[in-house]
Amino acid sequence: MSGPYVRIAGWGKYLPQRVLTNSELEAMVDTSDEWIRSRSGIGERRIAAPGETASSMASEAALAALRVAGVQPEELDLIIVATATPDHVAMPSTASLLQHALGASRAGAFDLTAACSGFVYALVTGAQFVQTGLYRTVLVAAAEVYSRILDWQDRATCVLFGDAAGAVVLQATDRPGGLLASLLGSDGSGACQLYVPAGGSALPTSHQTVEQRQHFIRMKGREVFRFATTTVPEAVLRVLDAAHLAPEEVDLLIPHQANIRIIDAVTRRLGLREEAVFTNVDRYGNTSAASIPVALCEALEQGRLHPGANLVMVAFGGGLSWAAAAWKWH
Ligand code: UT7
Repeated sequence: MSGPYVRIAGWGKYLPQRVLTNSELEAMVDTSDEWIRSRSGIGERRIAAPGETASSMASEAALAALRVAGVQPEELDLIIVATATPDHVAMPSTASLLQHALGASRAGAFDLTAACSGFVYALVTGAQFVQTGLYRTVLVAAAEVYSRILDWQDRATCVLFGDAAGAVVLQATDRPGGLLASLLGSDGSGACQLYVPAGGSALPTSHQTVEQRQHFIRMKGREVFRFATTTVPEAVLRVLDAAHLAPEEVDLLIPHQANIRIIDAVTRRLGLREEAVFTNVDRYGNTSAASIPVALCEALEQGRLHPGANLVMVAFGGGLSWAAAAWKWH
């Protein structure tokens, strides 16, 4: 491929201050620290403060990413926000609110919905605008406030998720690297395995939907687990094949941080070294679309990515959906 190439020029994350521990959850639902840790690897998660929203958290992450990139908000051509928990259900888009908060006066803005796969979907989408030469500078953010759509009486889901935001600034460059290959997948036959039943056009809000707690996440955990452990390794192998890379050439895999058992199963299946796989699910739980950009920031803070490194990001979630990207860091 010839240029323009796409480069991640800046990165940022935002984690709300409030830490919710497993022992606190023991007082809320019939669960235990031991169950949560052994089934998911999660020790604690962050919860947004009452005034915080997807756009306010995305704004914090975006400002950090712009600082790292040395880019002014007015230089942004486009803003994409991946979120399943937008500030408003129908309109405006969270991306429009973020555009205004940043003062990104030249930027177009839209939201992208692909649940936990949202960041990788948005990254690949943003990269296309840069690689085609249409835009030079694109902000891709992911922000999730699942604490607002969790049923805090449902122990099967409320112990697993947390709130967070992450963002990257994509820029055009003549130097080869960036997105090598990508894969976006969907199987809507599994729509009801992970969903929020009401509040949309299928089941508008009514007294009944509120009474029946249909505005909260419902999940068939075992089915999603099975789907993830088969689909994720396959997606990684396919994207590596398209990028002409072998699994042993992966310097860092950043998988969606949903469950340490899923990550371990993927690591084993791909025959990767443990050091080549990033995890932080113990500290943040599953932050949906935000999990990969937050993990990317922490990997960079820990010096785990160097120029020329082969990075693979892979996500899965509601839809059902999945997405993978092979990226040459530069
Ligand atoms: O971004 C994508 C989001 N979703 C996922 O990644 C979820 C994928 N699935 C999973 O991670 C796992 O399936 C879970 C962590 C959700 C559950 O682990 P599991 O080993 O599949 O447990 P299970 O659903 O088979 O449940 C085992 C038992 C059940 O009791 P019975 O029916 O065996 O008596 C549950 O009722 O554990 C019970 N249980 C709990 N016990 C204590 C479910 N939630 C809890 C809880 N505390 N929080």
